Amino acid sequence: MIIEPKMRGFICLTSHPDGCEQNVINQINYVKSKGAIAGPKKVLVIGASTGFGLASRITSAFGSDAATIGVFFEKPPAPGKPASPGWYNSAAFEKEAIKAGLYAKSINGDAFSDEIKQKTLDLIKSDLGQIDLVIYSLASPKRVHPKTGVVHNSVLKPIGDKPFENKTVDFHTGIVSEVSIAPANEEEIENTVAVMGGEDWEMWIDALKTANLLAEGANTVAYSYIGPSLTEAVYRKGTIGRAKDHLEATAFTIGDKLKDLNGKAFVSVNKALVTQASSAIPVIPLYISLLYKVMKEEGIHEGCIEQIQRLFAERLYAAETPTDSAGRIRVDDLEMRDAVQAKVAQLWTEATAETLPLIGDLAGYKKDFLNLFGFDVAGIDYAKDVNEMVEIPGLV
Ligand code: NAI
Ligand code: NA
Repeated sequence: MIIEPKMRGFICLTSHPDGCEQNVINQINYVKSKGAIAGPKKVLVIGASTGFGLASRITSAFGSDAATIGVFFEKPPAPGKPASPGWYNSAAFEKEAIKAGLYAKSINGDAFSDEIKQKTLDLIKSDLGQIDLVIYSLASPKRVHPKTGVVHNSVLKPIGDKPFENKTVDFHTGIVSEVSIAPANEEEIENTVAVMGGEDWEMWIDALKTANLLAEGANTVAYSYIGPSLTEAVYRKGTIGRAKDHLEATAFTIGDKLKDLNGKAFVSVNKALVTQASSAIPVIPLYISLLYKVMKEEGIHEGCIEQIQRLFAERLYAAETPTDSAGRIRVDDLEMRDAVQAKVAQLWTEATAETLPLIGDLAGYKKDFLNLFGFDVAGIDYAKDVNEMVEIPGLV
């Protein structure tokens, strides 16, 4: 079929297998170009199909020849209906990994469930024995709690008695408007922490450890975000920030549990990037389009793969792993530079629908968004008939 982007709100309903494959190949080539990393050998990536999780899987495999198991929740294709992009990404990754002689298998299902955890444990036990790195990179709007059956929905709202009022952009139209978001109630805060906090990460590590599937010296990393004061009220001091506080606290709990294995648990604070998860957060797209402009001008812009390659090579598997005063790894260092933030804050005050195309990188935002779905990727012939029924070679 011939596949074109079909937009609805923050998402694109279609995705392009060839474009997704090219994105994966470009990421693989980037990692190879940076040279070998003395990194992990057997890796489980939870949330492995897009964004930072996919970049982690690619860096593990093509940076240090690791065997990888990827867990994700993606929509398979049906005749005439393309799969979700993470499906095509995973198919492309596994095709390339197998070509390179690397073990690569996937499990598609709800990582929050006991069933998918058990399936993953069984696969590790039969194929890899023990693993030495667990990447936790889920981003989900909801979680069915495996013990209570309660469905928790996350919200993106400020906390306190005042609504959040600021500028936002509809990145499809470029229209800048004022947004007002009412504060969350206690229940919404708790639900967001239940979805995006650390409970499920800890459940995974508990299950892996109990089954004796973690190797001596095993590490685990989950991803967090801090960001600037501009977005603080709706992000870091909002409901999602509470969940990130919980996730970061969980790193210490898990760290204690890994001590007898000489293992470590880290949170890495990453840069703001266009992913399916971040494009749904109000205000963030405007911030990202200004940030991209400034960081590209300074020559310090990075995407997911540059971030994660640097995380592995210069932080996690460096002789020393530098952390901040709260014990977190920081690869948001370039984003958070004073000069960068001062420039973004200035541009923020100037941003309108008229000025944004000039002062912000709206074009770069849109391109990155389309790229997530395999569209607008250099070298792809979108007029060509493609097979949407792509299989993931290592799907279990
Ligand atoms: P993403 O949307 O690209 O990736 C989410 C992944 O989770 C996908 O592989 C998806 O299949 C998987 N997933 C979602 N629900 C699932 C479920 N129930 N079961 C199994 N798999 C499921 O998101 P992104 O942006 O890569 O986010 C990953 C982490 O990085 C999150 O913790 C996010 O907060 C964090 N982060 C994101 C930043 C950004 O700007 N995008 C910045 C810093 C941290
Ligand atoms: Na991810």
